[in-house]
Amino acid sequence: MNLILLGGPGAGKGTQAKKLIDKFQIPQISTGDILRAAVKEGTEMGRKAKEYMDSGKLVPDEVVIGIIKDRLAQPDCKKGFILDGFPRTVPQAEALDKVLAGLSTKIDHVVSIDVDEEALVTRLTGRRTCKNAACGQMFHIKFTPPKKEGVCDKCGGELYQRDDDNEATVRNRLATYNQATAPLIGYYSAKALVRPIAGVGSIDDIFIKIVGIVSGGCSCACGR
Ligand code: AP5
Repeated sequence: MNLILLGGPGAGKGTQAKKLIDKFQIPQISTGDILRAAVKEGTEMGRKAKEYMDSGKLVPDEVVIGIIKDRLAQPDCKKGFILDGFPRTVPQAEALDKVLAGLSTKIDHVVSIDVDEEALVTRLTGRRTCKNAACGQMFHIKFTPPKKEGVCDKCGGELYQRDDDNEATVRNRLATYNQATAPLIGYYSAKALVRPIAGVGSIDDIFIKIVGIVSGGCSCACGR
């Protein structure tokens, strides 16, 4: 199963991807996580990417396409993968098609998670993420608070607020999404791959809907 999770910043792509990994035992490939790791390591790519990320702009296509090409060639992607945050532009989607054709595979579903913009701002400004890269669990100070403030329920790691989760940058990220990424819905609709879902409601109900879609069953929250 090769899956793309599409949706605005804060739509719940990362949250759902983490649950899908456990259910289907296939890797999540998050270009955002890969870029943040490069920033943390202080690599040249990380230093360049940070400027774009802090202002809510997209990192240049050639950088992220290179990252994805290398990552999809890894053996753990053979059974399938979940793309989270890639592609984000039509040229990235076209490049992905070429990479997948070279690997004799293709995308099966593009799950498009729809959430109202003001709700996205509330979600992102209240998000807290586990610092432990192997965990990366997400919380929300109001909707899904950790049992102990500042501490990850899953691994005990320290929780932090991402540099780009302040309101001004979140609004820039939304504008970037509308301008550069939303056209992908048309791109994948033309290939009959888009499975739209409302991204509001409980995290578990949304997960059941996604599992229904990718398992070829019902896309309501009934679990069939
Ligand atoms: P990236 O890390 O990909 O950020 P994003 O797409 O903006 O998405 P987020 O991770 O912020 O949100 P999400 O949808 O995963 O939501 P989450 O599950 O965390 O990219 C960051 C930057 O890197 C970009 O701005 C760009 O600069 C660069 N970049 C990355 N990829 C790139 C690419 N391909 N090309 C160019 N540049 C690239 O949920 C958010 C919050 O909501 C959490 O607190 C969560 O607990 C809560 N929540 C989730 N679901 C629900 C629910 N159902 N109800 C209530 N709360 C919920």
